[in-house]
Amino acid sequence: MAQLRAFESAQKKGHEIPEIVCYEKQDDWGGQWNFTWRTGTDKYGEPVHTSMYRNLWSNGPKEGLEFAEYTFDEHFGRPVSSYPPREALWDYIDGRASKSDVKKYVKFAHAVRWVDFDEDAKTFTVHVENLRTGETESNEFDNVIVASGHFTFPNVPHFEGIDTFPGQIVHAHEFRGAESFADKDVLLIGASYSAEDIGTQAFKMGARSVTFSYRSAPMGFDWPEGMEEQPLIEKFEDDVVHFSNGVSRKFDAVIMCTGYIHHYPFLPSSLALDSPNNVYPDNLYRGVVWEKNNQMFYLGAQDQWFTFNMFDAQAWYVRDVILGERELPSAQKQRASIDAWLERFDKLETMEDQVDFQGAYVRDLIEQTDYPMFDLDAVCGIFKQWIQSKRDDILNYRDVTYTSVMTGTTAEKHHTPWMLELDSSLKRYLSTPARDEARDIFEGREPAAKAAERS
Ligand SMILES: Cc1cc2nc3c(=O)[nH]c(=O)nc-3n(C[C@H](O)[C@H](O)[C@H](O)COP(=O)(O)OP(=O)(O)OC[C@H]3O[C@@H](n4cnc5c(N)ncnc54)[C@H](O)[C@@H]3O)c2cc1C
Ligand SMILES: NC(=O)c1ccc[n+]([C@@H]2O[C@H](COP(=O)([O-])OP(=O)(O)OC[C@H]3O[C@@H](n4cnc5c(N)ncnc54)[C@H](OP(=O)(O)O)[C@@H]3O)[C@@H](O)[C@H]2O)c1
Repeated sequence: MAQLRAFESAQKKGHEIPEIVCYEKQDDWGGQWNFTWRTGTDKYGEPVHTSMYRNLWSNGPKEGLEFAEYTFDEHFGRPVSSYPPREALWDYIDGRASKSDVKKYVKFAHAVRWVDFDEDAKTFTVHVENLRTGETESNEFDNVIVASGHFTFPNVPHFEGIDTFPGQIVHAHEFRGAESFADKDVLLIGASYSAEDIGTQAFKMGARSVTFSYRSAPMGFDWPEGMEEQPLIEKFEDDVVHFSNGVSRKFDAVIMCTGYIHHYPFLPSSLALDSPNNVYPDNLYRGVVWEKNNQMFYLGAQDQWFTFNMFDAQAWYVRDVILGERELPSAQKQRASIDAWLERFDKLETMEDQVDFQGAYVRDLIEQTDYPMFDLDAVCGIFKQWIQSKRDDILNYRDVTYTSVMTGTTAEKHHTPWMLELDSSLKRYLSTPARDEARDIFEGREPAAKAAERS
């Protein structure tokens, strides 16, 4: 969506743009944000793309991801809270793209099956299947931009004895809701965003206990009673899990929050990115140009602090390379640039370092294009406050508000504290419900009804 918007923006400024085709295997756009209840395969028999769940709310402040050329104020017409639920974020990205005339470029329900590169003709042949008709077609292109995401194909480790576990075992990719974990003992394997957020969902929905198992290091948050971290699993014995520190516990359900793999089943190895999930995958000049074939590009291949606005910065740069507005340096210079960034990347120690690194990366891209520059230092500051707010109160960090660097608008406090909010719909999000008793108690006030009775 960012790439289509980037080309449209150039066209509006009088540039001639190339013929564009966007193949999207789902029936609508929005990628991860195009939620489905389905898991496994979709109605066409394709692997389900999204890893999101029904009650997912943004886990980072929206002030960190805001588009520089389409703000939340413009979209919603009023201030909204800093952590919108997923329906609201889908609405936002859909609103930006729908405002422009770019949907015409998208062939929905078209799955890319294979991409070849002809070394003599210097063109790609893209083989696609129309999932509605079953027909396949092959078309030639001068450039290919891979924007297929990298949080879809689960990384699923094996643990000794796991096949004897009698309860439910799912990967975060298949998790859709925590309601069934009420009164259950739940084990989450992993120590990153999925573990933290799905564990919190389970706690919110009344799990009896939530245990996280970490491999490298614990998340280290100040967990409430009923939530705890244990080191890596040594083995399963039926419903008992033995951790490497000698502790053993019984569990009802296991959720593997063990991340995702970069997997491009439609690409030959010469064109396929192969990287762990990190903020600077190798072999991408300026994080987007495929070093081994400069006619091919990747968007959003990095692990992400910045998201939507970084995708824009990347898309604007890729557009300018394709339009011939930016000349690419020699192969040696590209390598030297990648190496310099990798050297910087190797020195990152803290999360705050990663934020500054990605901020510098986004700045470098925006400086090359006409994408509106914004106060990246201030956005890095917001990300750092977010990190701290989670350390301060992991269950309630979504109640904190931030100020947009794009508009100066301070976010509205959501009408209901996140831990009490059980309705994640856009309708509820934008509504103004009456004060309720639970909220009064949560916030330490006398419940409104009681106060009225007393007076
Ligand atoms: C569980 C989860 C929660 C997240 N929460 C947040 C959040 O709160 N805030 C935030 O900023 N970011 C969040 N993210 C990060 C998320 O990755 C980005 O926000 C964003 O969706 C990435 O966009 P993308 O276009 O790179 O990839 P995706 O959103 O994954 O989109 C890729 C698209 O490519 C299509 N596709 C894939 N293969 C093919 C094929 N062979 N042929 C045709 N089409 C294909 C897919 O159908 C999909 O529409 C979250 C990610 C996950 C997994
Ligand atoms: N509400 C939300 O918005 C929300 C919710 C969930 C996820 N997300 C997004 O989804 C994306 C992916 O997050 P993620 O947490 O799924 O993946 P991730 O950040 O890549 O983390 C993967 C985790 O799995 C662990 N792991 C990997 N292999 C393992 C093994 N063999 N044994 C034990 N642990 C193992 C890793 O441990 P090591 O540290 O040892 O490598 C790491 O803790 C992020 O962009 C995140 O923001 C957002």
